[in-house]
Amino acid sequence: MASPFFIQPFEEAHFSAFVNFRKEALRSAPESFGSDYESYNSLSLLDKEQLFEKLQNYPFNFALGAFTSTGDIVGMAGFSCRHLLRKQRHKGHIWGMYVSEPHRGNGIATKLLEYLLRSAKEDAGCEHVLLSVSSKNLPAYHLYKKINFFEYGTEYRALKLEDEYVDEILMMQYL
Ligand SMILES: CC(C)(COP(=O)(O)OP(=O)(O)OC[C@H]1O[C@@H](n2cnc3c(N)ncnc32)[C@H](O)[C@@H]1OP(=O)(O)O)[C@@H](O)C(=O)NCCC(=O)NCCS
Repeated sequence: MASPFFIQPFEEAHFSAFVNFRKEALRSAPESFGSDYESYNSLSLLDKEQLFEKLQNYPFNFALGAFTSTGDIVGMAGFSCRHLLRKQRHKGHIWGMYVSEPHRGNGIATKLLEYLLRSAKEDAGCEHVLLSVSSKNLPAYHLYKKINFFEYGTEYRALKLEDEYVDEILMMQYL
């Protein structure tokens, strides 16, 4: 049976745990994210604090954490909506989706996305959400398809890792 977990937006008190978890995500799944471990790790403490502070703006800019009953972080998903721009505040972007390996297959990513989509619609007032996923990332691609995202394009050579290019599938969902 899946171990119990709960989901909530990261708060100020989670800063150190968030930084460690984000590092784990970037280090273990480099082909999955536009950000990279080396750049994030080399940021000063102040820069990391400032980035984290920008996420304390629910429901427009936030990151959700999936926590075990003992408070360990096992998953995360980020959301951003440019709500101060009148022509762009109808849409939001999902970023940073990650579940730690031992906890995968328990529906954690699904629960994170359900929470996030509800917040985007009901609290941020968004009409649709967008994301991009590496064309080789079948688990994530299937996850998004399963919860009703559809493809609207491909960004060829979206990422470059050493000498290898990664295409990204662009997906969206109307809320
Ligand atoms: C993709 C990821 C977030 C999925 O997390 P998860 O908590 O294991 O996902 P869930 O248990 O909620 O799975 C939901 C659905 O996703 C799909 N899925 C998840 N893992 C899969 C796998 N290994 N192979 C194929 N489909 C998979 C399935 O459709 C699954 O539904 P099902 O269980 O009914 O078959 C996780 O594997 C991960 O963190 N990967 C590394 C980082 C990453 O790729 N992030 C996405 C960036 S765009």
